[in-house]
Amino acid sequence: MCGIVGYTGTKEAYPIVITGLKRLEYRGYDSTGVALLNNGLKVYKKKGRVSDLEEAIIGMDLHAHTGIGHTRWATHGEPSDVNAHPHTSASGKLAMIHNGIIENYTQLKKELTNKGYVFTSETDTEVLLNFIEDIKENNQCDLEEAVRVALKRVTGAYVILLLDSENPDTIIAARKGSPLVIGVGKGEHFLGSDASPMLEYTKEVVYVNDYELAIVRPDELILKNLGNEKITPFVTRLDMELAAIEKGGYDHFMLKEIFEQPSTIHDCLRGRLDAAAGTITMKGIQDNIQHFINANRIIIVACGTSWHAALLAEYIIEELCRIPVEVEYASEFRYRNPIINKGDIIIAISQSGETADTLVAIERAKENGAIIFGIVNVVGSSIARISNGGAYTHAGPEIGVASTKAFTGQLAVLTMMALKIAKEKGTISDERYTDLLFELEAVPEKVDAILKTAEQLKTIALKYKGAADALYLGRGYNFPIALEGALKLKEISYIHAEGYPAAEMKHGPIALVDENLPVVFIATKDSYHEKIVSNIQEIKARKGKVIAIITEGDDLIPGMADDVFYVPPADEIIAPMLSTIPMQLLSYYMGIARGVDVDKPRNLAKSVTVE
Ligand code: F6R
Repeated sequence: MCGIVGYTGTKEAYPIVITGLKRLEYRGYDSTGVALLNNGLKVYKKKGRVSDLEEAIIGMDLHAHTGIGHTRWATHGEPSDVNAHPHTSASGKLAMIHNGIIENYTQLKKELTNKGYVFTSETDTEVLLNFIEDIKENNQCDLEEAVRVALKRVTGAYVILLLDSENPDTIIAARKGSPLVIGVGKGEHFLGSDASPMLEYTKEVVYVNDYELAIVRPDELILKNLGNEKITPFVTRLDMELAAIEKGGYDHFMLKEIFEQPSTIHDCLRGRLDAAAGTITMKGIQDNIQHFINANRIIIVACGTSWHAALLAEYIIEELCRIPVEVEYASEFRYRNPIINKGDIIIAISQSGETADTLVAIERAKENGAIIFGIVNVVGSSIARISNGGAYTHAGPEIGVASTKAFTGQLAVLTMMALKIAKEKGTISDERYTDLLFELEAVPEKVDAILKTAEQLKTIALKYKGAADALYLGRGYNFPIALEGALKLKEISYIHAEGYPAAEMKHGPIALVDENLPVVFIATKDSYHEKIVSNIQEIKARKGKVIAIITEGDDLIPGMADDVFYVPPADEIIAPMLSTIPMQLLSYYMGIARGVDVDKPRNLAKSVTVE
């Protein structure tokens, strides 16, 4: 949520900042702005996408060696030129960008208003900036000291980058709760919400921690805590190439990421799963295996698509490991007063590793003695670092706002985990264990086969693109896939969609069924197959339009459904990893058919770092 970029060094800052903002646009795209330091501050900002700003400032004086930039997902104040970041202080000497929310900004604003400050925007950011300036002037201190004093009074989450016109080549940065990466180059430094803005310049990065402040100059990076004590920066080497964040010939990142899944799932399994040897090597699980074996309960916290992976994990872990699992929306879990017993295992699932609700939920649980296990895609992210153990999904950077390849990566990791724990705990037979290892190993190839028939879903999407609503139904392991299919359709095509357990449909949603309602059944061959066939009949009896995702060789459902899409046969525990692919493609093609910017659907942002 909101992307921030900074550069100080010998190169021109603007091209680096603007290119970085384009890469971070997935974090928000309500407005864009840059501040450049060259004989004073120059601030350019505008409502809309990065390209709108770029166009608007062609021909302006953009020369500078130090600059910051921001792409906004609006929280306080509507998307507008005036609410766009960077904000400038009352004196005009300071400029600041911010990702996060200052929760006590109304109190601070009142104090400043009483002192005569006038605010031009509705943002919490402008308040914090003037609060910092007020401290700087009253305490006769430098900017660094003023930031430190101010942040001690602030509640909420933030990454801030500040420029001071009296301090030409310096960026002051601070973080609590939102991500900040600093790239270390030769005589230059790069700052970003993630590492993408600096990829072609350096692979050496420092992940700034909460309550740390960075003073960044071309030749110098000083890290301090809010108590003004120096901290030695811990430099990590990035394992990411520029190609991973480019479209690579696809029209959209979403399509590229859908088509990457045979290789991303393969990467996730590689080095871990060896079906022929009958082994699963997962260090994070192995290190905590006794905790898992002895666990009375596992609680999984997540949001959105990651929550759907959690729900499927509940079914799989309970079936294979016989450990009770509870699945919680992170945003609810953190605010109610959940019972967490010492030794409970909390699994946090997150693509970004920065989702504020999930992060705070596990911080609270950790304080109460729970063991935190993170399943995260972004290496080095906050959730990965706070967890006691974990497993990366290795799906690579996911840029499309709708989660696709990260979801199948999560399912692959969770299935391997469940199999490993079940094997160690002795709750799975050798035969079933071996079968499932081979089934899992075959997933990338089967996904590849599904993708070869993707065009069929385009045809189906064109047929139903005018729908106002859609219903997604599945049973058992396919129920979470019905929820995920409905979420994907909503966010990418703006068609209202609901996911339900297929049998639950009779308890209300069936009232929606008429000849205009497309009903997507995830009806692959499993132990519930006969039951779901009956549910299809119930929809057809009410003239609903049935789109069925079925297993190759099914000769019953094609005679009832209006449209069918085949997936290869698979064990029912593994099948969701296949049946989710047509859900992603259907949403993608629907979105395209309806003219939606599928990589940046309205109102959304990829990394939700506010509550
Ligand atoms: C949906 C989607 C969101 C995310 C959710 C959690 O396509 O992308 O629902 O799944 O915001 O994000 P992470 O997994 O980064 O914690």
